[in-house]
Amino acid sequence: MNDRKNEIGKTLLTGRQIAKKVKELGRAISSDYRGLDPVFVGILKGSVIFLSDLLREIDIECSVDFIALSSYMGETETSGVVKVVMDLRESIRERHVVLIEDIVDTGLSMAYLRDNLLTRQPASFSICSLLSKTAARRVHVDLKYTGFEVPEEFLVGYGLDYRERYRNLPYIAALKPEVYKGE
Ligand code: PRP
Repeated sequence: MNDRKNEIGKTLLTGRQIAKKVKELGRAISSDYRGLDPVFVGILKGSVIFLSDLLREIDIECSVDFIALSSYMGETETSGVVKVVMDLRESIRERHVVLIEDIVDTGLSMAYLRDNLLTRQPASFSICSLLSKTAARRVHVDLKYTGFEVPEEFLVGYGLDYRERYRNLPYIAALKPEVYKGE
């Protein structure tokens, strides 16, 4: 990869700040779901880093599944049309489902997924998102657990990408606006 470091603007959340928050979330979820054998559903691809760190902070019996959606299709603006491109492996009927997301922005992806999964009759359903960009919300979604409220900037790192790059940064930063403006 070329040196694209100068596309990255200011760091919004350091690895250390994220780790502290992930620990708190893991503790809260463990206490709320103890004895319920929840299934944590990671939404590909953005949530993978968060999910894998969060799981190691959860000390109760649980299982994990994945679902993949597509709405941004590599663009910086949502297409508004959300599709399931890979479905869950297991049934969630009568299971306690906790959806794990990296960021809720307009809320369109999450609202679609919530409505889709609720038709499958889970015992309960909640959402845990590391980041929430409330100012950008177009539809309401109820977040039971939120790590950080973030401003309306294009963010990368810790799972979040710009054209599939930067998911591997161990911190969260803003992409410089000149990189994507005019797209
Ligand atoms: C990102 C992110 C959320 C969604 C949030 O996914 O991971 O799933 O956008 O945006 P919204 O609230 O405006 O719907 P993206 O479609 O970029 O795919 P990715 O997870 O593979 O990066």
